[in-house]
Amino acid sequence: MTEFDEDERRTWRGRAATYERSLAQLCAYPVRSLLDAAGVVAGDRMLDVGTGPGTVAALACERGAAVTAVDAEDSMLDAARRNAPEALVQHGILPRLDFGDGAFDAVTANFVLNHVGDPPAALAELRRVARAGGRIAFTIWPYPVSPLQRLWRDVSAALDVPASALPLAAARADFARTPEGLYSLMEQVGLVDLACHEVSWTHHTDPEDWWAAPAHGIGFLGKLLASLPPEGVAEARAHFERLANDYRIPDGRLALPTSALIASCTVPSR
Ligand SMILES: C[S@@+](CC[C@H](N)C(=O)[O-])C[C@H]1O[C@@H](n2cnc3c(N)ncnc32)[C@H](O)[C@@H]1O
Repeated sequence: MTEFDEDERRTWRGRAATYERSLAQLCAYPVRSLLDAAGVVAGDRMLDVGTGPGTVAALACERGAAVTAVDAEDSMLDAARRNAPEALVQHGILPRLDFGDGAFDAVTANFVLNHVGDPPAALAELRRVARAGGRIAFTIWPYPVSPLQRLWRDVSAALDVPASALPLAAARADFARTPEGLYSLMEQVGLVDLACHEVSWTHHTDPEDWWAAPAHGIGFLGKLLASLPPEGVAEARAHFERLANDYRIPDGRLALPTSALIASCTVPSR
């Protein structure tokens, strides 16, 4: 396991409730398009990796797929079992999954490949467990970043604390968060029939729910806050209040424009 992966394990430990309150609703938006990109239909054997609270798994079950869902974090598995009771939910950590070659017709990973230390190895594992002709689909937050993600960066920049201490995925294993970067990643792993498109939307959220994620150590701002003394966290919160004003709507919530890249591909005949 890389230093990056160890840091991810710490980040998500016991965080399911906070995630469900905040980022899960954001990450739910592209799920129907993700399932379409993976070609998921009734009767498919589908694997959702990094399932979190099981949003993708629940919708795939609604489609009539036979769903297996894995995550590295126990609190997420509990949430997934609650939200997707028809799915088989079990522990599993990329880049090594406990399934045989070609076990699934379709494999999905919604905002997960940005949380692994070796994305090509993780994608190669998704390829291994999908059958020849099976589909893989995954999402990533693109660069340049959207206003939603820029808000976190602006809070971090206002703090004037170096982010350089945060573990990064190994440079040789990282990829550009652009359509070109995703095509290149999929090619590197030998996948074919490549596609990538961007979906854009405005995420509406209560400011307290939104702040809950970094306040509990989630995301790069959360990792930064976790390294600060209480007065540093209070300063960050004040910057958040000020910067979030640009996105406040009359009902008091925030309206945050954002977008995601949805990539999909087919496993070639072996
Ligand atoms: C941003 S959340 C996305 C959750 C879910 N896919 C969704 O749509 O809400 C990332 C999830 O990936 C899981 N995760 C991170 N690294 C992982 C790994 N190496 N193997 C399996 N799961 C991982 C985390 O525990 C977390 O639940």
